[in-house]
Amino acid sequence: MTVRGWHPDSWRRMPIRQVPDYPDAAALATMEARIATFPPLVFAGEADRLKALLAKAGEGQAFVLQGGDCAEGFADFRADPIRDTFRVLLQMAVVLTFGGGLPVVKLGRMAGQFAKPRSSDTETVGGVSLPSYRGDIVNGPAFTAEARVPDPQRMEFAYLQSAGTMNFLRALATGGYADLHQVHRWNLGFVARSPLAARYDDLAQRIDETLRFMGACGMGNSPEVRETDFYTSHESLLLPYEQALTREPSTHPGKHYAVSAHFLWIGDRTRQPDGAHVEFLRGVANPIGMKVGPTMEADELVRLTEILNPANEPGRLTLIARMGATKVAEKLPPLLRAVHRAGRKVTWICDPMHGNTVKAGNDYKTRSFDAILDEVRGFFDAHAAAGTVAGGVHVEMTGQDVTECIGGAHRLTEADLAGNYATFCDPRLNAEQSLELAFLVAEELKARRLSKVDDASPAVAAQ
Ligand code: PEP
Ligand code: CO
Repeated sequence: MTVRGWHPDSWRRMPIRQVPDYPDAAALATMEARIATFPPLVFAGEADRLKALLAKAGEGQAFVLQGGDCAEGFADFRADPIRDTFRVLLQMAVVLTFGGGLPVVKLGRMAGQFAKPRSSDTETVGGVSLPSYRGDIVNGPAFTAEARVPDPQRMEFAYLQSAGTMNFLRALATGGYADLHQVHRWNLGFVARSPLAARYDDLAQRIDETLRFMGACGMGNSPEVRETDFYTSHESLLLPYEQALTREPSTHPGKHYAVSAHFLWIGDRTRQPDGAHVEFLRGVANPIGMKVGPTMEADELVRLTEILNPANEPGRLTLIARMGATKVAEKLPPLLRAVHRAGRKVTWICDPMHGNTVKAGNDYKTRSFDAILDEVRGFFDAHAAAGTVAGGVHVEMTGQDVTECIGGAHRLTEADLAGNYATFCDPRLNAEQSLELAFLVAEELKARRLSKVDDASPAVAAQ
């Protein structure tokens, strides 16, 4: 069944924000036609499987871990950063699975996270104004007039980099690297020298013992132990590219799938109910997400859930709350209640990054690890109070030893930021900070699990 009034290009009739100003419309059209002939990066059946997992997370039967770069860059298309980010996500997933006693849905902000929304169309440095950098799929980061011209050729390289990254991720996920028997090896490098190493090693030790026990019982060789499922996601911002990678698979007649990634989301700046970005995603059959920031009103949110998920299908829509640590307690509860009262089926996850970006004294954009933790705690508290489900976290992180967010076990300060500040866009958690966050979230999940056990105790159940 096709979606009423929708077509892969129906977004072109709607008002649109955050569009690059391509100087050569013909070159853009040629590139769109070319990409439309390229093979899909994902298969519709995989997107359906992810949707089912996200539905479970919405009911508290699984937990979503979505993470990766703020922006991938052409200059970072190397094995190490991809493998290291994947490895830290595995470590985090192990910590969360162990603490929460729940399956963890691993969703990379990887293999396609190239296009960036900007708060201003121009950037001014020393009195010179140039178009803003909009991500490597659009223009270049260097502050020169030449680099900042949007170039459609970049879409082709973004596709090829996504394909290469996706292939490597699939190889890592199923080829032995993600085998739980390797759990000790994931803790290499600088994290192994960190204050968190002992905590991680202790957990890895317990997993080893469990695996030895399972092996002795003849259960140690199952695909669940040897492989992992890993999904990809990015912001659905550059719609000409996304439209070119939208297909009606022969296996799923009558349905259109975005095939640039398993999961696409709408950013906080492009979520207007009658805008182009909402129009585009409402018609694809993938699981989709939408950022929910502090300016979202309850009735607008309910309306958006109706537009984006008219059939009220579980797993279809993930709401990614990004309120900021100081606002979460005030802004989130009314939204949770409104969506719940309206009977809308959604999966709520917490992005504790984008509401907590600040300028350090030395002008670096940064985030404080404490604020990030505060927002995560506020998110769990709001769900506990509203009787709704905290279904996951969404973080900007990397496996590299970067110095972009302050705080954490090594107590990075503003003065440390210059050490290794490597992001193309927003500040990311480094590997150690990511792992620390996972331990904290695992504690929250464990507390929730134990309180459920209490609720189900015979004394309570008999009442
Ligand atoms: C992002 O996720 O990188 C982003 C730009 O987020 P938001 O739309 O929530 O500001
Ligand atoms: Co970002």
